[in-house]
Amino acid sequence: MNKHIQIFDTTLRDGEQSPGFSMTHSEKLRMAEQLEILGVDVIEAGFPIASDGDFEAVKAISKRITNCQVAGLCRIKHDDICRAWEALQFAEKPRIHTFVATSDIHLVHKLNMSREQVIEAAISGVTFARSLCDVVEFSAEDASRTDPDFLCQILEAVIEAGATIVNIPDTVGFAVPDEFGSLIRKIKTEVPNISKATISVHCHNDLGLGVANSLAAIQNGAKQIECTINGIGERAGNASLEEIVMALAVRKSFYGSETKVNTAQLYPSSQLLAEITGNQVQPNKAIVGKNAFAHEAGIHQDGVLKNPLTYEIMTPQTVGVPQNSLVLGKHSGRRALGDRLDKLGFTFSKDEVNKIYQCFTVLADLKKTITDEDLIYLSKTGIDLAEKPDIAENLQEYINQ
Ligand code: KIV
Ligand code: ZN
Repeated sequence: MNKHIQIFDTTLRDGEQSPGFSMTHSEKLRMAEQLEILGVDVIEAGFPIASDGDFEAVKAISKRITNCQVAGLCRIKHDDICRAWEALQFAEKPRIHTFVATSDIHLVHKLNMSREQVIEAAISGVTFARSLCDVVEFSAEDASRTDPDFLCQILEAVIEAGATIVNIPDTVGFAVPDEFGSLIRKIKTEVPNISKATISVHCHNDLGLGVANSLAAIQNGAKQIECTINGIGERAGNASLEEIVMALAVRKSFYGSETKVNTAQLYPSSQLLAEITGNQVQPNKAIVGKNAFAHEAGIHQDGVLKNPLTYEIMTPQTVGVPQNSLVLGKHSGRRALGDRLDKLGFTFSKDEVNKIYQCFTVLADLKKTITDEDLIYLSKTGIDLAEKPDIAENLQEYINQ
């Protein structure tokens, strides 16, 4: 049987706290509703103590969302936890997510605390959080740069204090997959009470390895992945939700895992986030970028027209993209041109298509992409133009018009 991997979406917290991605109260609510439709298990709605706006957004999302757990972030200080609970108490399925840094770098330079003091504070915070809420997640910030034995020690202590989920963040995107997978394996095998908690990971993308590290963690026992739509988040972002979900779906027999995400809602969710934040998705972004299902090379276009499986590992419809596109440009072949002319309602003989194709390749050298309007022009003029010696000058005139 496949393992269920919980998808913890932090678009509205880690994603929203990155420069250029802030959202208004109503935009956050709209996005939360879409995440519910998408079918994520947990929505991290914000960091309530960070601002009144964040507090109100977490409260409103808690009231509105019924099918997902709603989490709010807080440090391990009691007043932080209280503020988070004040907002989350309205949720049908609330989760307190409390964190403290555990690496020596953070302990010495940021918190000015000893390891013993951090363990004490974490136990106190988690115990208090559990007195308010049945579901408490503890995050060991900068876990990937924490002494692994100390990490196991603090995880054992917080599980004993009542944490139901322990999250292992690669806060600064420093980990690499084999090493991160081994860390998760160590936690799974060496923390004595680990069976009482779910192991989660939260990977940043500073080396572009957020998704790879998350997948390595799944192979070694993680059951919850923290991620964001379009991979937004602090600095280079978080592991991208759509990439993780589709890696698990497309390579199901390899990972033996599945999520309950409705994959056909991935593209609509990505588009909604881009629209709300005004940040377009990079064209070559896996799964949801505009080129993810676009084919320009002639050999590829010919293959896709014969059978999409030749160059597509998933159908565009699986992720909610209406259809693949054969982009006509200088790398395209006769087959794709003929197919597009057919779709535009033109019927030409093979010889006529060859002549139009001759002009098409000249035009494609002069312009980056060929639009349907260009094709209509070529279908009216191309057959005659192909006989003339000055095709390029004629087409340059057409472009200049
Ligand atoms: O990156 C990080 O460590 C975080 C934690 C607060 C989970 O965002
Ligand atoms: Zn983070």
